[in-house]
Amino acid sequence: MNEDIQRYFDDNQNSWDAKVDIHKESSFYNLKDFQSGESSLIGPEVEELGNVYGRSLLHLQCHFGMDTISWVRKGAMAVGVDFSEKAIQLAKELNEAEENRAQFIQSNIYDLKQNLSGQFDFVFTSYGTIGWLPDLNKWAEVVANFLKPGGTFYIIDFHPVVWMLDDKKMKEIYYSYFNKEVISTEDHTYTDHEGTHRKFMTHGWNHPISEILNALLKQDLILEHFNEYDYSAYNCFTGLTKIGEHKWQFEGREGIIPMMYSIKMTK
Ligand SMILES: C[S@@+](CC[C@H](N)C(=O)[O-])C[C@H]1O[C@@H](n2cnc3c(N)ncnc32)[C@H](O)[C@@H]1O
Repeated sequence: MNEDIQRYFDDNQNSWDAKVDIHKESSFYNLKDFQSGESSLIGPEVEELGNVYGRSLLHLQCHFGMDTISWVRKGAMAVGVDFSEKAIQLAKELNEAEENRAQFIQSNIYDLKQNLSGQFDFVFTSYGTIGWLPDLNKWAEVVANFLKPGGTFYIIDFHPVVWMLDDKKMKEIYYSYFNKEVISTEDHTYTDHEGTHRKFMTHGWNHPISEILNALLKQDLILEHFNEYDYSAYNCFTGLTKIGEHKWQFEGREGIIPMMYSIKMTK
């Protein structure tokens, strides 16, 4: 791996480690309700992924494992992976209260083949994932490697159009739709609407839909659906207004801007 990429990963890993302490106290993640049994899965993924009962599921970039554990509560045998040591530590603590039915592994997605073996019925990843990964061809290789023949890959994430906007002036186009270069920013985390906590140096990459689909298609995965949504399931950008239950849109832009997409593919 080249030195710059390693430095970007190191900064990102440090920032995610530090964000865990803020996120676990936030109303955004609402750990209290989760620990009383509420599911953290609130978007189209529940219906679109379908029945996971008795099936194995690999969750890539699981943060501190709320969604991984929520899939387990629906009957899946789930493994969550994230490169943040602090996130995996908290995931394991939450898992203890669930009789350790999930499994958690600390690994960079790109190193996962060295840290995990086996294949899964589902590979799942959601909300704020591939924007942290510079090379989607290598990512798609990892996805395909861990899918059983006949298994399903599912991603739901924020639409690349949203990543063109500057978070402070959400109505202005600021970044390229295309993957032109690394985007380095120093900013507050998305649970911190008041900006009361520290800023974090992070590095990300914008990936157009064509890049995402082509990387997966190169692995011979078969496209089942590609959906786009005119809302975000989470209130995680500046200037959003509520337009329904778990539905947020930029004020004045209702029905205009695509905010999420989902892709379902079979191996
Ligand atoms: C926005 S969170 C994922 C969102 C998740 N749905 C949630 O909120 O619970 C992004 C996660 O990706 C992880 N991450 C970023 N780059 C990674 C990499 N190269 N390998 C593994 N995990 C990575 C971060 O540590 C973080 O936990």
